[in-house]
Amino acid sequence: MKPAIAVVGNVWPEADLDALAAEFECHFPSRMTAGEREAFHSGTAGRLRGFLTTGTIGIDAATAQRYPALEIVAVHGVGVDPVDLPALAARGIVVTNTPDVLTEDVADLAVALLLTAARRLPFLDRYVRAGHWLEKRPLLPTRSLRGKVAGIYGYGRIGQAVASRLRGFGMAIRYYQRSSGPEPGLRSASLLDLARESDYLVACAPGGPDTRHAIDAAVLDALGPEGTLVNIARGSVVDEAALVAALTSGRLGTAALDVFEDEPQVPPALLLLDNVVLSPHVGSLTVEARQAMRELCFANLRAHFAGQPVLTPVRC
Ligand code: 8YV
Repeated sequence: MKPAIAVVGNVWPEADLDALAAEFECHFPSRMTAGEREAFHSGTAGRLRGFLTTGTIGIDAATAQRYPALEIVAVHGVGVDPVDLPALAARGIVVTNTPDVLTEDVADLAVALLLTAARRLPFLDRYVRAGHWLEKRPLLPTRSLRGKVAGIYGYGRIGQAVASRLRGFGMAIRYYQRSSGPEPGLRSASLLDLARESDYLVACAPGGPDTRHAIDAAVLDALGPEGTLVNIARGSVVDEAALVAALTSGRLGTAALDVFEDEPQVPPALLLLDNVVLSPHVGSLTVEARQAMRELCFANLRAHFAGQPVLTPVRC
């Protein structure tokens, strides 16, 4: 008998779902009407053994409770902050994620955002389209990257991949994370010190309670009016209200943001600012990374139901 699983999120192409259906009995609670879902939760959900979800939806304790036979949660994403790990661990449920396969593409986006902010490309694009070039409106020069300091907050796989790219632009690297990391000579004493020492602060730290609002008003002030914040981590890592205040008052120079506290909501004030670059949480959104992420999710499910160790367990 095929193991029965729930599949949530909109990151699964139909062709993959057709292939998945050959191996698993798939159910799609997020596609159900409220009434259908209620019936599903009080019936079929009771025998579902797997839960396939995304790094932004995850699974909370209340949802997990509706699946009393759950054995495995496979997360499409490296971030597991919306997964209630303690609740799942208490029930012995295996959790997997998709590290490594997205690292390079997420790092590429971080660098793309940093360059875009540094060279003010969205503003310049608007300048050309609006005919200001023809009007010979004055343009101020931007600052070179060479010799500037990039401070990486969270020096894990993605943070280190960002650093190696930025070194190619002649930037000096510093970093901060709570635990000791590689290249100890580059580690700042605190996040506040890192911000003081950096021209660009790149947030790569995992989300969750430990990093919530770590980048607060004091950190943004330390980065300063010439400083730039890049966030490709999680919106929760930055105190968004403090960020809006710092940008609108000129206490912070620029921000380039791929993630937000309440996605897909973006604070309206940010939409009006020329010194802000915005993208809609697309760090891993390349054909190659997404295919590799899906394959890793499916491989984890297959391994589990074949009685083998999963490939990429999340340690709870
Ligand atoms: C995805 C992510 O956008 O890996 C993560 O943690 O945030 C992204 O890769 C998300 O997980 C969609 O499934």
